[in-house]
Order: sequence, then structure tokens, then C-alpha cells
Amino acid sequence: MANQHHNSGNLHEKIETNNFLMIVLIFITISFGGLVEIVPLFFQKSMTEPIKGLMPYTALELAGRDIYLREGCYNCHSQMIRPFHAETMRYGHYSVAGEYVYDHPFQWGSKRTGPDLHRVGGKYSDDWQRVHLHNPRDVVPESIMPAYPWLEENLVDDKTIGDHMAALRKVGVPYTDEQIKTAGEEVKGKTEQDALVAYLQILGTHLK
Ligand code: HEC
Repeated sequence: MANQHHNSGNLHEKIETNNFLMIVLIFITISFGGLVEIVPLFFQKSMTEPIKGLMPYTALELAGRDIYLREGCYNCHSQMIRPFHAETMRYGHYSVAGEYVYDHPFQWGSKRTGPDLHRVGGKYSDDWQRVHLHNPRDVVPESIMPAYPWLEENLVDDKTIGDHMAALRKVGVPYTDEQIKTAGEEVKGKTEQDALVAYLQILGTHLK
């Protein structure tokens, strides 16, 4: 008994006086803790399955989403409502993982120069959104958001949207052949503003 105690004392001393061993063991301990927390999330239905009623973006909405990315809207807007009282009072139901299953890549963000947009769908009319994108100061006089007047002049690229949907299907978005085939027609002649408004108006509306 006494001998065993003596041995474990030796081991402790060895670790605590050896920088390298200490670093390696700390690393293993922390990695293990992380894995125990993270790995189960990959297998939890509520984390990986779409919420009931979630629809992939239509061709027009998807084109709008591309414009959202191109214009860097995410630099000022997050799309994730955290489960805190102050946030749910302001924005509505907190965001859940199953709402983002068809988002590649998701637009959670962490920078909020402007408000969170995850549940902005249906909050304003299409007309309000158009005026706001044309010049935010026309509807919110104190706004510091940039104006995007070119969006109402540029037409959506109808040549590549089908390919985009085919690529998304490869990573699990359930588009049908029909949707992919008719994607170009659906967006033909639409302006980038039409597309962006369609995207904004669908945001966060699937959670019932
Ligand atoms: C420089 C930062 C900035 C950028 C970039 C930006 N916004 Fe904003 N946005 C704001 C601010 C600040 C507000 C709040 C004032 C207002 O409503 O204009 C806002 C408000 C909004 C609102 C109204 C939200 C609400 O709940 O009232 C929408 C919708 C919106 N932005 C969409 C966009 C889109 C789409 C883009 C990209 C084309 C974009 N924003 C780019 C700063 C920005």
C-alpha cells in the first residue's frame, strides 16, 4: 500500500515537472472534453434534420441569396436569433438548427451593425423592402445602411442558377429535376431586386 502511494507520487511529479508531458496531457484532456460535447450533435435529429415544412429556396429566392452574399449584407446583419428574452422580444422565436439545413453556407454571422434578419420575412411589404433597398433613408431617416440602387436595374443571371441548384442537390438539398430544369425560366427577366426581396421575404417563415 505504502509502495503504491509512493509510485503515484512519482508519476505526478514526473508530469508536473515535464513541460512537454504536461502540454500533451492537457491537450488530450481538453480534446476529449470537446469531442464528448460536439460529436453527439452530429447524430441528434434536432440538429441535422430540417424542421417540418422547411422548403428549399426557389430559383428566385436562391438567386436573391446569391446577391445577399455578393453585396456583403452579412457584414452588418446576422441571421441567428439567440434564445435570450431580449432577442426573442425583438425578433421573434429563437432560431433552431433545423431551419438552416438547406443553407450552404449558413449566414449566422456575428456582426450586428443592423438588426438580425433571420425572421424579417413578412415583417414589411415587398414595396417597403424595395424602397428600403433603393435608399434606406427614404423609410428610415436615421439609417446608416448603404443604398443598393443598381439592384433594380441588373437582371438576374438565368444561365447559371440551374447549375447552382444541381450543385446544392449534391450536398443534400432535395431539388427535383423539374425544378432544376425550369430554374432559368423562373428567374428570366427578373431584376436582382426582385430576387433579393423574394429571399428576404421567405427568411425565417418556415418555423410554425
Ligand atoms: C453598413 C452596414 C449595413 C449593410 C452593409 C447592410 N445593412 Fe441592412 N441595415 C443596416 C442598419 C443600420 C439597419 C437599421 C436601419 C434601417 O432599417 O435602415 C438595417 C436594416 C435592414 C433591414 C430592415 C430590418 C428590420 O427588421 O427593420 C433589412 C431588411 C436590411 N437591412 C437588409 C439588408 C440587405 C439585404 C443588405 C445587403 C444588400 C443590407 N441590409 C446591408 C445596416 C446595413
